[in-house]
Amino acid sequence: MYFNKKDLEEIGNVKRLNIVNSITGIKPANLIGTISKDKISNVAIFSSVVHLGSNPALIGVIVRPTGEIPRNTYENILENGQYTINHVGEEFIENSHYTSAKFDASTSEFEICNLTEEYLTDFEAPFVKESAIKIGLRHLESIPIESNGTILVIGEVEHVIIPDKAINKKGYIDLEKANTTGISGLNSYYKLEKITSFPYARVSEIPDFKNE
Ligand SMILES: Cc1cc2nc3c(=O)[nH]c(=O)nc-3n(C[C@H](O)[C@H](O)[C@H](O)COP(=O)(O)O)c2cc1C
Repeated sequence: MYFNKKDLEEIGNVKRLNIVNSITGIKPANLIGTISKDKISNVAIFSSVVHLGSNPALIGVIVRPTGEIPRNTYENILENGQYTINHVGEEFIENSHYTSAKFDASTSEFEICNLTEEYLTDFEAPFVKESAIKIGLRHLESIPIESNGTILVIGEVEHVIIPDKAINKKGYIDLEKANTTGISGLNSYYKLEKITSFPYARVSEIPDFKNE
């Protein structure tokens, strides 16, 4: 099947959304935990979490336009500057998926979706107890993306929690052991299986692919 720009424009909103949301491949499945200034906790699923750099340790998230629909996660991040990113594990995919419903700001998705809020160290934003890998971040800046009104929210990593069995001495993390899942589009979830790993790719050490 082949689609050009015109085909995509004419294909209808739902089909276009389904195709374009999936063509980049597997995206990370994460729950973002926040709390409002009135101490109402919030948790919602986000697939657009992206690594921006490791020194300083920066992570970006793309948040949809804030226009008419209130975006509780983003408002809470602006209110207290803290948020958590928590991997979605296989056992609670369904609970995580339904955090995407448009609950009003007075409702905590933790409660409705039966996920457990967890408070660690002196961090105000809630972590998700069920998640194996979790990150606490402080908001640094938000960059509006003019092309479509979305916002790139950038945060610095302040806390990282990883189960001992999922990290080795060198710091390599095994996402299969952490039971982390992946997302395609907006409603399909995938199990992760580690296939292999390779050393840093040096020009002097390239395998002889043609004669293998
Ligand atoms: C699988 C999946 C992935 C999603 N990824 C994002 C995302 O990356 N960015 C975003 O703004 N919304 C994303 N959403 C939508 C949010 O989960 C949804 O808007 C939610 O209501 C936001 O909660 P809030 O209003 O409490 O912030 C996603 C929804 C689903 C089902």
